[in-house]
Amino acid sequence: MTQKIIIDTDPGQDDAVAILLALASPELDVLGITAVAGNVPLALTEKNARKICELAGRPDIPVYAGAARPLMRELVTAEYVHGKTGLDGPDLPEPTMPLQQGHAVDFIIDTLRSNDEVTLCALGPLTNIAMAFVKAPDIVERVREIVAMGGGLFEGGNTTPVAEFNIYVDPHAAQTVFKCGRPITLMPLDVTHQCLTTAKRVAAFRALGTRTGEATASLLDFFERFDEQKYGTDGGPLHDPNVIAWLLQPELYEGREINLEVETGSELTMGMTVADWWGVTDRPANVNYVREVDADGFYALLVERLAKLP
Ligand code: RIB
Ligand code: CA
Repeated sequence: MTQKIIIDTDPGQDDAVAILLALASPELDVLGITAVAGNVPLALTEKNARKICELAGRPDIPVYAGAARPLMRELVTAEYVHGKTGLDGPDLPEPTMPLQQGHAVDFIIDTLRSNDEVTLCALGPLTNIAMAFVKAPDIVERVREIVAMGGGLFEGGNTTPVAEFNIYVDPHAAQTVFKCGRPITLMPLDVTHQCLTTAKRVAAFRALGTRTGEATASLLDFFERFDEQKYGTDGGPLHDPNVIAWLLQPELYEGREINLEVETGSELTMGMTVADWWGVTDRPANVNYVREVDADGFYALLVERLAKLP
């Protein structure tokens, strides 16, 4: 049985590797990719999503453009990490596959209304998903599961001292999604910071000898430089592919059901994920908060699957 998924994304080098992993995995039926503004503006995230589909040899995947800015706040982007194109590193050709007509939010709504058991994979700010839930509340109960990269507790923040980028960019959307009542699995910085793009791991992609392997190594060579300088590590955290890896091999991960709320009032702590890991409140659990990963197993899965792409 394949699992039907929608990937909501702001490519982004790490988003790109997550999309490649999904497209290389026959267990997953990628119904569509919805782009959101985040790492770079929407005009680039939607184009980057199409570039990655064509890199994978999958111009058949429908790509939609969604929200160009957060629900209430001004857009904050991250060219300082991802480069001016959002996919700096390899020189990928301009896409020839078309951008789908229609808004990504309407694609999410229509797809959930016409399909059972769809999983939403969120790799960027949660604006599109929150907008879909607000516009069409009937679809919420139809969502099988939401798996999202975002937030953090023990690792602190990567955008402010306490906030992770995806949640910081659109904290109001995040709060809407985290309160939706459907099963949510969250891949926070606490787990993604265990998945460093070490030189040995990047070399394993390059050693595939394929255009996808070379492009992946080049994406990671560029993407890691900012975090390597910031954290003084061999390699930087590889965030988004953990969302897809969870669907493929959940046994790589450990977490617990806890309550998580998002700060939307204080500018000082805006976008902080207040994760009640030790259960000190009586607030009901609403997310499976993942804290541990078998990082070697994660990279072995990535290399094994990306080897299947051209
Ligand atoms: O904080 C990391 C997250 O923000 C990742 O999803 C990265 O792609 C950026 O969107
Ligand atoms: Ca992302």
